[in-house]
This record gives sequence, C-alpha cells and structure tokens, in this order.
Amino acid sequence: MKQFDLNKIPRAKICSLPTPIQYMKRLSDHLKGVNIYVKRDDLTGIALGGNKNRKVEYLLGDALKKNADTIITEGTLTSNHCLQAAAGAAKLGLNCELVLSEVHLEKKIPMNLLLEMLMEIKIHRVKTSSERKAKMNEIAAKLKAEGKTPYIIPSGGSDKIGFIGYINFIQEIASQSKDMDITFDYFIHGTGSAGTQAGSIAGKKLFYPDIEVIGINAGYSRKKIIDAIKTIIKDFEIENSIELNVDDTEIIVLDDYIGDGYEVLSKELIETVKLIANLEGIFLDPVYNGKAMIGLIDLAEKDYFPRDSNVLFLHSGGNQAIYHYIDKIIEKMKYDT
Ligand SMILES: Cc1ncc(COP(=O)(O)O)c(C=O)c1O
Repeated sequence: MKQFDLNKIPRAKICSLPTPIQYMKRLSDHLKGVNIYVKRDDLTGIALGGNKNRKVEYLLGDALKKNADTIITEGTLTSNHCLQAAAGAAKLGLNCELVLSEVHLEKKIPMNLLLEMLMEIKIHRVKTSSERKAKMNEIAAKLKAEGKTPYIIPSGGSDKIGFIGYINFIQEIASQSKDMDITFDYFIHGTGSAGTQAGSIAGKKLFYPDIEVIGINAGYSRKKIIDAIKTIIKDFEIENSIELNVDDTEIIVLDDYIGDGYEVLSKELIETVKLIANLEGIFLDPVYNGKAMIGLIDLAEKDYFPRDSNVLFLHSGGNQAIYHYIDKIIEKMKYDT
C-alpha cells in the first residue's frame, strides 16, 4: 500500500488547532463506569467554530491551488457549513456566493444567515434543495464568462477533499492521546452529510486503528449516509492510490436517536441539552450534538461500553441553533415568560 502523506495535501491553515480535549468529570460520575471526554471542535476559530471549519481548510486549500477567486456552496438557510465556508473565504480574501434553500424560516432570520449578511455574502435563494446544484452551476458559468475562476463546494463540504479535515482530526487525536497518556476506545459524533464520519473512519484506519467510530444520525436517511461514506472513501482511495480496507462493520451509523425528526425538538432532547449544561457548563446544539449525546448516554446506560472505557464525544459546534429554536425550547421547558 502506498503511504499517504497528509502534509502534502493543499490546506489553508485558518483554524485554531489543536482544539482542546476536556474530561467531562461530572458526566462521567453521573454515568458511572465510563470516562467521557469532549473534543471541542466548537472552538475551531472561524466564524462561530464547528466541524465544517476543518473541511473548509482543505477545500479552500484546493481552491487556492486551482487559483479560484470565488467560492460557491450550498445549504439550507440555517446551514452551519455555509457560514463556515463563507467566513473561511472572507479570511482568505476570496469572494463567496451561497445558494440557500428554504427551511422553516417562520418569522426569524436564522443567526447563520444574519452573519452571512454581515459579511455581505451574495445569497441566491431557491425553493428546494433539489434546485441548488443547477443554480450553483449556473452561477459558476456566469462567473467564468466574466473571466472569474469559481470553485464549487458540495453540500456540507463532504467530498474526497473536505473529509480530509477529519482525517487530520484523528491524527490530532492520536497526538493528544499520546500527550495525555490516554487511549480513546470510542469516538461518538452527530452525522449528516457524512464527511465527518467518512474522514474519522479513514483517519482511524491511517492513524488510530483501535478506536470505534460511532455516528449518531441527526435525521437523514441511514442508507444515504452509509453510501456517502463509502463513496467518499472510495473516491479518496482512487485519487491517492491507496487502500484503506474499511470493513462494513466499521461503518456504524445509529438511527435510534433521531426522535421525531431532523429539526424537531423533543422533550428528551431539551432535557439532554440541559443536563450537559448543568453538569459541565457546556452547551450542545439540539440538531446534532444533543442527539449524539442522547446516543452516548443511552449506550453507556445499556453497558455498550466495557467498564472504564474512554469515550470521546465530538462537540461539532452549531450552538446558534439553540437561539434559532428559542420558542420551541421555552415551550418544551414550560418556562413562564
Ligand atoms: C453542528 C453540526 N454537527 C455535525 C454535523 C454533521 O457533519 P457531517 O455533515 O459531516 O456529517 C453538521 C452538519 O451540518 C453540523 O452542522
């Protein structure tokens, strides 16, 4: 097998890395018998932080290598990826245009959209997510005709380039693990467009083979996530002439914690966000991290993790969703306003 040299991959180093790993002592005491750590990727340093920052480093590195001057990407109006891609582009002096599809906008402007407006990002609205790709291609064609060099980033930054951010993440964990003299047995994170999980699995194969990567589905189709993980890894293997030999049993996507849907806030979800805030002073977004934490707690209570296991939980950012769902949270908390 050819050796893969991460340092040779173009990268725009715009994040504050490594992010800290913190011991969640009170949560560990609460769960009894497992040690829970949190990797604070909400502190990556661009915009409001988050997992997309890591993908963006490699995507923008590739864009710069290709002499791009304008980044085009897509998402919903609440997309964390779009905000982080736009902020990364701003930091590098690149233009950015976003194609955003409608979600339940109701009366409020989502925080991410507001921040994009503050950066004066050019925003193109479309009605449904299925219209986004064609719109991005249309914008790219127009820019090319004007003599510009556009670079399209797919949804969530989840492709064979963006996912390298999470290969790098696992290498970072391997190094921190050595420094801390702790072996992490499990890595749990919220999963969606699959780049984070695909990168973590590839990173595990390359740098930290004994860790078990567990993706908690935030509300997508499980089959789509698994297919996307396989496709991204295959594309990467072809591109880099290497074989990672990922077995199907290493692609663990759990569907059990979606609750009532992607952006539906259950009472259990709010209670879990409150529990972690109360025990650790850490806030989790309800859409991804809250569900991933429900999964972690349930697995611990079911004794999925052998006694004294070290479990690493990803905080992937996105806390602005707490504000976006303020009404629903208050309603579920039966808070008297
Ligand atoms: C806060 C947050 N966590 C986790 C994820 C999931 O990451 P991925 O899309 O790479 O599966 C997302 C994706 O949008 C996200 O915004």
